[in-house]
Amino acid sequence: MAELVVALDLPTAGEALDLADKLRGRVDWLKVGLQLFIAEGPNIVSSLKERGFSVFLDLKLHDIPNTVASAVTSAAARGADMLTLHASGGDRMLAAAVEARDRLTGARPILMGVTVLTSLGSEDMRGVYAADPEPLALDLSRKANTIGLDGVVCSAWEVAAIKRAASPGFACLTPGIRPDASGGGDDQRRTATPEEAVAQGTDYLVVGRPITRAAVPEQAAEEFAKRMGRAPGS
Ligand code: C5P
Repeated sequence: MAELVVALDLPTAGEALDLADKLRGRVDWLKVGLQLFIAEGPNIVSSLKERGFSVFLDLKLHDIPNTVASAVTSAAARGADMLTLHASGGDRMLAAAVEARDRLTGARPILMGVTVLTSLGSEDMRGVYAADPEPLALDLSRKANTIGLDGVVCSAWEVAAIKRAASPGFACLTPGIRPDASGGGDDQRRTATPEEAVAQGTDYLVVGRPITRAAVPEQAAEEFAKRMGRAPGS
């Protein structure tokens, strides 16, 4: 059963914790990204853990191997259950992160490699990577899988091909989820509806603005969960 992860892309801990309290019992996973982490620091992770949530710390690490390995250790010490690092950071960077995870004596965070941001369409890609998003995402996923990451972040439309090529249990997490296929995707480009993402076999759906900016966010979260085939509160 796919998990719903709500992205707490909000400016203050107060607003993030208010929303977390509304979502309690409806959603198990919350995501802390750059905006909230830079504003509030790692205590936000502890506050969410105390409320019983699993926390996805989405800092998209991309640095020299030693720095990324140390960041993995620090994030695990703060209780992060899932972490992102750029799969394009090079084999040695990915391997250093995997070694740091494997050296942990306590709980090990799930390590997810970011393949190609879902905000990049084919046109944006030409200016950055000289490659199309799908083949590059597949290539980076193979690398991440071989080196020992637990999964990748990708668009829903890449999940099936990634899963076919990966070892069993390799996870896919997909942002860019929108309620309506024809509706606006904000800055996202490679979007999918919850039904489409689930049908493609994704393990985690990350939803931000369609829930955080809804008039009644807890209702919007319930609607997403229902459309993913999850019973209320499950
Ligand atoms: O508001 P929206 O649903 O577009 O939020 C998607 C969330 O997923 C944002 O927090 C964004 O940082 C994150 N994300 C993404 N693309 C990735 C990795 C993470 O959109 N490849």
